[in-house]
Amino acid sequence: MKLNILLAALLVVGYVSAFDNGVARTPPMGWNSWNLFACNINEQLIIETIDAMSSKLLKYGYQYVNIDDCWSRKEGRDNTTKELIADPIRFPRGIKYLADYAHSKGVKLGIYSDVGFLTCAGYPASGKDFYEIDAKTFAKWGVDYLKFDWCFTDDEIRAAPWKFYGRMSQALNSTGRPIFYSICNWGDFKPWEWAPKISNSWRTTGDINPSWASVIDILDKNRPLHQFSGPYTFNDPDMLEVEVDRPPNKLTVEEARSHFTLWAMLNSPLLLGNDIRRIDDQDRKWAKDIITNEEVIALSQDNLVLQAKVLYEDKRGEIKDNKCVDQNGCVWIEVWGKQLVGGNIAVAVLNRAGVDVNDPKFKKESHTIPLKSIGLSDTNEYVVRNLWTKQKTNAKQQFTTDSIDQHSIAVYKFTKAQ
Ligand code: GLA
Repeated sequence: MKLNILLAALLVVGYVSAFDNGVARTPPMGWNSWNLFACNINEQLIIETIDAMSSKLLKYGYQYVNIDDCWSRKEGRDNTTKELIADPIRFPRGIKYLADYAHSKGVKLGIYSDVGFLTCAGYPASGKDFYEIDAKTFAKWGVDYLKFDWCFTDDEIRAAPWKFYGRMSQALNSTGRPIFYSICNWGDFKPWEWAPKISNSWRTTGDINPSWASVIDILDKNRPLHQFSGPYTFNDPDMLEVEVDRPPNKLTVEEARSHFTLWAMLNSPLLLGNDIRRIDDQDRKWAKDIITNEEVIALSQDNLVLQAKVLYEDKRGEIKDNKCVDQNGCVWIEVWGKQLVGGNIAVAVLNRAGVDVNDPKFKKESHTIPLKSIGLSDTNEYVVRNLWTKQKTNAKQQFTTDSIDQHSIAVYKFTKAQ
């Protein structure tokens, strides 16, 4: 009897990852303060963001409100306990107050520290004597997520980052509190090779910015890493830049839609960077439409938890450094596939074009997918649903996409017709 229960449990869970701390089988969803607010954070912003998360976004699956750098007292730790202290001016009631407040609203709270001696903005950090104390403090405060950065390290840490990130992992586990552990060492020392054993996610690159060049650069770097992503363990291509205006950079609506779709396909944590307090403003409706597309979110939260792969490309003309240098013009379509439960597949067709969206050497394209080339049978008929326009068609042997603008994406779910 017991054996049957165990077998049944294994079947439900499926693949058991190396680091199963019971937190987040599918990619975490939430918000982080850094991309828009940087160090301009305080208690009021976090409380209002928790309120917005609770009333507007929880229903879509978002749940974490993560405080990034600059939250602690810059002058240092408590003299006696050696614990980190929240900045008394900006966070007068401390972090536990915010965690309790978040929990009372069904929201989870995240915090930030660093494996080195100072955080990237120069605040006290956990290295190397404080991993255990800080893990205990975060657990005591009721923190649910820790982002652990990579600034101000020394030679010893850089010689074996897995050892020091691993110490924090153990320290967090010893607290008994389930805390999502997010390693942020920018892809240095190939974290995908060691971080899956000790963490829930690991940054694969340097910092994102709200430009197409940045999105594409990060996309390319994550493309070969699909085998390292799975239940409870995710490549982290960095936080979302949908509707994040950071002059001189800002993604267009179409670019933001592509970015969001691709991050969902990549099993990335979906951490919003925009001001979600204003998500219902009329002039921001386009952003709300993107981040609350439930069918695209469902790709990210699919229970197979498989990262998308490039199935094939249609690349024509001479392209150098993402620019078309061919007098006859160029085409650059990437076809990404993500296996879903029930034998279904999501296929995202990206017209990545050049760096400049107005580059006349690229154009709007529709693309015909031979079903064989995306792993489907030639004899079956499929229902194909466009997850942005919500249109449905049937396809056999091949499928022709809608017309896709430069820097835009179309994403389809293929289901076998009954
Ligand atoms: C690093 C990280 C960013 C952010 C900043 C904060 O650059 O990669 O995501 O946390 O530090 O200073």
